[in-house]
Amino acid sequence: MNPKTYLIIGGTGGIGQAMVKQLVATTAKEKGSKEEDNIRVFATYHRRIPDFEADNLHWLQMDVSDENSIKQASEAIEKQSPHLDWIINCVGLLHTDKSQPEKALRQVETDFFLQNMQVNALAGLLIAKHFRSLLAKSTRSNDHPAIFATISARVGSISDNQMGGWYSYRMSKAALNMGMKNLSIEWGRALKDVCVVVMQPGTVNTQLSAPFQANVADGHLFSPAYSAECLLEVLTGMNASQSGSFVDWAGESIPW
Ligand SMILES: NC(=O)c1ccc[n+]([C@@H]2O[C@H](COP(=O)([O-])OP(=O)(O)OC[C@H]3O[C@@H](n4cnc5c(N)ncnc54)[C@H](OP(=O)(O)O)[C@@H]3O)[C@@H](O)[C@H]2O)c1
Repeated sequence: MNPKTYLIIGGTGGIGQAMVKQLVATTAKEKGSKEEDNIRVFATYHRRIPDFEADNLHWLQMDVSDENSIKQASEAIEKQSPHLDWIINCVGLLHTDKSQPEKALRQVETDFFLQNMQVNALAGLLIAKHFRSLLAKSTRSNDHPAIFATISARVGSISDNQMGGWYSYRMSKAALNMGMKNLSIEWGRALKDVCVVVMQPGTVNTQLSAPFQANVADGHLFSPAYSAECLLEVLTGMNASQSGSFVDWAGESIPW
């Protein structure tokens, strides 16, 4: 059984947009089937107005640093769909117009640190809080669970950290990972058949990684389309007992 109702948060970002396009294409392929009306993709944008549309694709505005905005988006979806089967959070922050990731301790600044924590870590919890009831209404099974996935980063692994630097980003992704692990335990008790996953997408050619691509080895810089395809395939193979996983684009486990 394939998932039928998706929500991509951050649907205008590099990886998020590629996911939306692939899911909408899947939807198009399934047109003509009896389940046509059940297949829907919801996607959120932040600052950039989406530049593409499709049947069964519904755009909503969401600022993940504003809990009220998250709540309003969940209420707007609830009016259009009784449930969600998959939620994938593709939002992330590494640098801004004003701030770059820190190379050394002296560069750590409170505002940038808190912005990283808010967008990369806290947002995941608030999204779970406000979208729980929509996921809970998904009729899934252990083999085909509802999915609550967040794109994290390998640099959020504490045991994998060999290089140092990037304090705000690393710490926010490590906090995200702990939050999602905690969530998987709570939902594992009360919300069976939901798989909570954090994922490393590879090094992907997007605006987020653009300033840091110089040292990427040949063949190791993925297109957003390739990364999205791999991540969706990994999620398709997940069962509920894998909830609480931290995996990469190939489905390989990453140590916490
Ligand atoms: N690219 C890589 O190599 C790489 C590697 C490891 C992990 N990741 C992770 O993969 C995820 C996707 O990254 P990407 O490479 O696709 O980056 P991206 O192209 O910069 O996309 C990031 C998205 O996050 C959105 N966003 C930022 N702040 C937001 C907010 N407050 N509210 C709502 N949306 C907000 C952006 O929207 P606006 O532009 O409108 O603000 C954008 O759509 C991130 O979690 C990133 O940390 C990426």
